[in-house]
Amino acid sequence: MPPVERTLSILKPDATRRNLTGAINDRFERRGLRIVGQKRIKLTTEQAERFYAVHRERPFYRSLIEFMTSGPVVVQVLEGPDAVALTRAIMGATDPAKAAAGTIRRDFAETIEANSVHGSDSLETAAQEIAFFFSTSEIVP
Ligand code: CDP
Ligand code: MG
Repeated sequence: MPPVERTLSILKPDATRRNLTGAINDRFERRGLRIVGQKRIKLTTEQAERFYAVHRERPFYRSLIEFMTSGPVVVQVLEGPDAVALTRAIMGATDPAKAAAGTIRRDFAETIEANSVHGSDSLETAAQEIAFFFSTSEIVP
C-alpha cells in the first residue's frame, strides 16, 4: 500500500462558474481520495500572485492571476494513498488538448489557462501549498 499523503487541490474559476465542483470532486472521490479540508473563497490578487510566484517570469503569469481572481475557487486538501501523484494523474496534462482520455482536464477544461483544476506537483510543494490556505484545525480527517 503506498503511503498516505495530502495534496492541495483547487477547483478554478471556470469550474465554479460552470457548476462543475461536484462532477470534478466525484472523479477524486471515486479513486479513493478523501476531502479532509475545503473552503470556497475568492482569491485576492496578492494571494494569487504569491501562490503562483514560481511562474512570475513566465509570459502567462499576468493573465493567470487575472483568471484565478475572476471568480470563486474551491481550495481543498485531498488525502489518500499516493495522493500527490494520483491527483495529478486524475487531473491530466496542463494543456487539455494533450491530456489523456478520461482525465478532468480533457473532459472539462476550457483552455490551457482555464483548465479547471490545480494539484500540487510534489510532496514538498503540497505541504507548502496546504499551509498557504489551511490551519491545522481546518483539516479534519
Ligand atoms: O497546473 P500545472 O502544474 O499543470 O501547470 P503549471 O505549469 O504549473 O502552470 C500553472 C497554471 O498556469 C496552469 O495550470 C494554467 O492554468 C496556467 N498556464 C497557462 O495559462 N499557460 C501555460 N502555457 C502554462 C500554464
Ligand atoms: Mg504546477
